[in-house]
Amino acid sequence: MHPRALLKQTRGLISRADAEFLLLALLGLPRHELWLTDRPIPTAKRVRFERMVRRVATGEPPQYVTGRAPFLDFELRVDRRVLIPRPETEELVLRALARRPDPRRVLDFGTGSGCIAIAVARRCPAARVLALDASAPALAVCRRNLLEHRLTGRVRPLRADRLDHSALRRRRFDLLIANPPYVPTARLARLATRVRSHEPHVALDGGPDGTKILSMLLARGPELLAPGGLLALEIDHSHADALRYRAPGARVERDLAGRDRYLFLAREDLQ
Ligand SMILES: C[S@@+](CC[C@H](N)C(=O)[O-])C[C@H]1O[C@@H](n2cnc3c(N)ncnc32)[C@H](O)[C@@H]1O
Repeated sequence: MHPRALLKQTRGLISRADAEFLLLALLGLPRHELWLTDRPIPTAKRVRFERMVRRVATGEPPQYVTGRAPFLDFELRVDRRVLIPRPETEELVLRALARRPDPRRVLDFGTGSGCIAIAVARRCPAARVLALDASAPALAVCRRNLLEHRLTGRVRPLRADRLDHSALRRRRFDLLIANPPYVPTARLARLATRVRSHEPHVALDGGPDGTKILSMLLARGPELLAPGGLLALEIDHSHADALRYRAPGARVERDLAGRDRYLFLAREDLQ
């Protein structure tokens, strides 16, 4: 059976996009090859594909099934210990670097898989990144990604859960970037099953109103900025007004879907 026939068999079980994602990962092909090749898929691979489809059909995210997720121009290992990187976060990185093109001292707060830290280090050869996370299991995944991307010399993982951690004392950063947990605790139960039952709650739970970590970053982050430094945060659109009020000098920008999603606060705009 060739790839397109195999994809057809998944109709009604999982989405077309998920089926393609699984098959491309399994075959190690670029997407356009799906339409060009009529080479039959070996039975062992077909059996593996069917097993993967069953897992996704029961609600598991395809990225956890393949163990890989794309982020900008590279790939990461992911599993249930880390959040699956989202396209909105790719945009956070691009927007932050458009404002501060060559940061040298970078803090990625809540690094998870390390996607932001790795993206910044790959794009900015002079950058040294501190990749901080409260979750030891998440940092284990981050370390594997750093090894894979040969960035252990420039990105340092650190287990910490606050900005007043002793390792940050007297340090100043050109870029403090974060995609913190921002879902209000009561809303976790209403998230899609794929997210709620598989992704780590520590990566999602933003406390009673969702702004627990965001508020801490806004309160303490500016003290850690070097002259010319930038705080760049991913936020939930529902928090935009409250956060604007707390940080009057901040600029909130919309994502591609037109929702308030990013907050930027430059050291010189502090009021
Ligand atoms: C929304 S995930 C973001 C992960 C990754 N940066 C990304 O964008 O895909 C938030 C991350 O913050 C971490 N985290 C949650 N509470 C934290 C805290 N108090 N201090 C540091 N990290 C925390 C979680 O373990 C998780 O990895």
